[in-house]
Amino acid sequence: MTRSPPFASVALSALVAGGLVVASVISFMPNTVTVTTAVANATPPSSAAPDGAVLFRAKGCSSCHGSTEEDSRSRSAPSLFRLADRAGSRVEGLDAEQYVRASILTPQAYLAAGSGGLTMPTLPVDDAELDALVAYLLRQ
Ligand code: HEC
Repeated sequence: MTRSPPFASVALSALVAGGLVVASVISFMPNTVTVTTAVANATPPSSAAPDGAVLFRAKGCSSCHGSTEEDSRSRSAPSLFRLADRAGSRVEGLDAEQYVRASILTPQAYLAAGSGGLTMPTLPVDDAELDALVAYLLRQ
């Protein structure tokens, strides 16, 4: 006796909303209906550390500071190139990391030599952004 092949169809629908991808696969087999729904997050997890190099531009730091030797030539604020070499000896009692952190959070607390009378604004950064900026500047 011959049997006709089972009727099967697959419907795939994808909906992208707010970074969520919802894909539903519905297959119809004789006497069975299977619905599989997969939900995947299309955006990286929010716990991913922000990128210091990206923040340096996004927060406007790079409009005043250069973080490379070349960029520093065309910026009016002190160069942050190789900041790690001097950050630890700027203020007694503060190591390089503490100094860079303080320079960003409370720019007026210590005035770096070579500021040329310019002042740095206090820019809003959250903890994760601060960590990323400090790490970035200390490896430049
Ligand atoms: C409007 C210009 C301006 C912007 C924007 C700016 N700065 Fe500054 N920054 C300065 C000036 C001027 C100084 C030197 C005076 C001082 O120490 O406050 C300085 C000093 C610093 C120092 C200390 C440098 C040293 O050699 O000791 C660090 C670190 C620093 N800025 C990081 C940042 C970061 C990170 C950002 C972005 C979140 C930023 N700055 C945005 C003008 C700016």
